[in-house]
Amino acid sequence: MAPHTEQLTRPAVRLRGLTRSFDGRVVLDGIDLDIPAGQFVALLGHSGSGKSTLLRAVAGLDHEVVGGGELIAPERVSVVFQDSRLLPWRRVLDNVLLGLDGEDAAGRGREALAEVGLAGRERAWPSELSGGEQQRAALARSLVREPELLLADEPFGALDALTRIKMHNLLRELWERHRPSVLLVTHDVDEAIVLADRVLVLEEGRIGVDLAIERDARARGEYRGRLLAALGVTEDVR
Ligand SMILES: Nc1ncnc2c1ncn2[C@@H]1O[C@H](COP(=O)(O)OP(=O)(O)OP(=O)(O)O)[C@@H](O)[C@H]1O
Ligand SMILES: [Mg+2]
Repeated sequence: MAPHTEQLTRPAVRLRGLTRSFDGRVVLDGIDLDIPAGQFVALLGHSGSGKSTLLRAVAGLDHEVVGGGELIAPERVSVVFQDSRLLPWRRVLDNVLLGLDGEDAAGRGREALAEVGLAGRERAWPSELSGGEQQRAALARSLVREPELLLADEPFGALDALTRIKMHNLLRELWERHRPSVLLVTHDVDEAIVLADRVLVLEEGRIGVDLAIERDARARGEYRGRLLAALGVTEDVR
């Protein structure tokens, strides 16, 4: 196989037998998962089901995780959390540029800020930005590194409903333009269906549901029902 084709077909993330326990309690119980390059995956699951633990393992932040077989992730990985984690004593552009070098770094940082709608706010302090703007700055900081894999742990969890919808559009737009693989942890079934091409449900330490999402609005109600059922939620609003 030519190197180029190989690059296209090789999964960006490959997990085999990923296991993690805390004090003898098994949280991840032999997870097998492949994420093809460029795929947008959402990960659902109850609170405490191990979503963040899985994400941290893929990010390479957990040195005690046991890969029975393999834990392969790309070299360039960016992580976005529920809070923006901007350093309060650095201006917005300096936060975006943190740890970045190269002659054109500042230019790329400005471009990334413009992409998330923060042109002109480069010299603001993080405390001068709204919650949504801080999350956009965090997205710019991850994008400027041109990640092959974007990991996001409930990045919109703390935002109001309206801002969240705007952030959904922005994230989907950025993904379409840059095409990293994405693993997005969320509590929100609708967010998962709107954003992702594939939705996973983590239950009892395993991937219990692995659902491909067609981008057809008519199918959304059906996905919603299936995912809510998998999460043991019944909607009974009369
Ligand atoms: N450092 C740790 N030490 C001990 N237990 C931990 C640690 N990190 C996670 N756990 C436990 O592992 C389980 C899974 O935690 P995790 O944070 O991955 O859940 P989650 O699915 O992300 O939940 P949430 O939706 O509430 O964020 C929990 O029971 C948690 O208490
Ligand atoms: Mg979590």
